[in-house]
Amino acid sequence: MNQDLASEIRNKVDIVDIIGERIPLTAKGKNFFGVCPFHEDTNPSMSVSREKQIYRCFSCGASGNVFTFLMNYEHKNFKEVLKELGDKVGINTTSISIQKSSSQYDIFYDIYNFTQKYYQNNLNSVEGRDARKYLEERKIDEAVIKEFGIGLSLQVRDDLIKLLQKKKYDLMTLNKIGLAIDDHDVYSNRIMFPLYDTYGRIVAFSGRIYQNNSQNKYVNTKETVIFKKGSCLYHYHIAKDICRSEKSVIVMEGFMDVIRASTIGIRNTVALMGTALTDEQIKLLKRLSQHIILCLDGDFPGRHAAAAIGKTLMDEGIEVKIVTLPDPDDPDTYILKNGKDKFISLIEHAINYSDYKIELLKENINFQSEKDLSKYINSVLEETVKINDEIRVEIILKKLAKDYNIGYNTLEKRFQDLKEKKTAPKIKVEVEKTTRKDKYQLAMEQIIYFMLNSNNSWVIEEVEKENIIYPTNEERLITSEIIYYYKRNRQFQLADFFTYLQDKPNLLKLLNDIVSQNYIEQVDKKDLFTYFKVLRDYSKQKQILHLEEKIKKESNPDIQAEISEQIRKLKLGE
Ligand code: UTP
Ligand code: MN
Repeated sequence: MNQDLASEIRNKVDIVDIIGERIPLTAKGKNFFGVCPFHEDTNPSMSVSREKQIYRCFSCGASGNVFTFLMNYEHKNFKEVLKELGDKVGINTTSISIQKSSSQYDIFYDIYNFTQKYYQNNLNSVEGRDARKYLEERKIDEAVIKEFGIGLSLQVRDDLIKLLQKKKYDLMTLNKIGLAIDDHDVYSNRIMFPLYDTYGRIVAFSGRIYQNNSQNKYVNTKETVIFKKGSCLYHYHIAKDICRSEKSVIVMEGFMDVIRASTIGIRNTVALMGTALTDEQIKLLKRLSQHIILCLDGDFPGRHAAAAIGKTLMDEGIEVKIVTLPDPDDPDTYILKNGKDKFISLIEHAINYSDYKIELLKENINFQSEKDLSKYINSVLEETVKINDEIRVEIILKKLAKDYNIGYNTLEKRFQDLKEKKTAPKIKVEVEKTTRKDKYQLAMEQIIYFMLNSNNSWVIEEVEKENIIYPTNEERLITSEIIYYYKRNRQFQLADFFTYLQDKPNLLKLLNDIVSQNYIEQVDKKDLFTYFKVLRDYSKQKQILHLEEKIKKESNPDIQAEISEQIRKLKLGE
């Protein structure tokens, strides 16, 4: 990878400007402070240093240089960010080729690109007449076909693979990537929708029937090395840029819904594509926005999916709002029937998850039955306990009291009981989370922190001389990377070191962890040796403990004697 080019570009931009263009920063002393965009917060816990050209958040532990900031903030990869900044400062970046693990798949992306063009071409051919008519009837016009790359697979079941084989792609590869089954095409006579990965590369298709027949409505490409259903969100690659200015993402069920919404200018949308929400999809959604609006189908399954998915997202700390469409509409049919303004108004009036849940709880309740009623009230209270807004809680309780003629105090007491039950176990979890690092580890991290300060390069040389027994393997690895980096460049620049470590996620995580702590900045020789001594003492103590355990388990008196001699030597410091 082109470290030098990266460092040249980095030296020409100022991280304070780049971050400042995106989030408000205020100067305080040597540093600048702003609200960290990488976790939900309102306090300015992120500091940006002009001197060191790095940012760090003391609350969530995010840290890095100008590249990592843009990569995380704009959901771009390293190459894209390098190009963006290179263009900005007039450094030519066309020559860079970043070694990416995916390059072995480039040929697969080529095949998919070619196939998509071929399918699109079919749509304009004589054989595409019926399909064109179908799309026209569904009000999908030429511009939409272009924007979403829609095409058509033909009736004959081997035209595509013949064509691809002529281009020297072998049948085995085509089988492997889901475009062939044995020696025929996977898709025949379907309208073809390309599916994209998060970078916007075509990695699969979904083919829809368009004539009345009894086949499955949609057929999707099987899972392949480049297409994992569970980590796919339709339209993510487009939404990722738009959600940033819209400050929310709208989640729909089908990609036809997303396509329809785009025709009325709503593009901060993604579709789940008929799967249950996976952990990977949750991660992707979180990267888009902390504010999610669920706009699923209006039928019974859709309404209940909204409640279930809403809960999962709430548990992840995301703010969830829900739009209910009239049964049996989906966003596609609703927009077609009611138009743009009505739909936008629905989105603007999306209701909070808990209000939605409370409404939904009414389904299947017979309010004449006392048993049903009490069950209903209890489940509403259980929902209400989750709300972190006292005023809203009071409104809900008052409404319940009035609607069902129950004493407010009775409800309030019940509510408090439930609340105590709910909060009790949580405290325990928090205590566990804050278990502190031991003295050994703190000393190690402090030493690493000294090494990261460019004015302290003598520390790096001292560490190299010292025979350290590292608390963890990762600390050993990061130390040797620092030493290696320093020797190669004859200096140490923390801001460039972030770039250097970017392909080693474990070490980068540790670096983030250390950089975002409040360790001491400057050190003299005497202090440094005190830290070395802490490490030595601690590792000695650990070895002694370990040997003492061993003695207890040992029955052979000769070996026991040998071990106690070792212990004695350790204690004497020999
Ligand atoms: P829907 O059945 O709601 O699709 O399934 P839709 O958007 O309304 O499609 P149209 O309007 O009838 O054309 C939602 C999603 O579930 C997946 C698709 O990704 C679809 O977008 N699905 C549905 C399948 O994978 N296979 C199917 O047979 C049906
Ligand atoms: Mn639908």
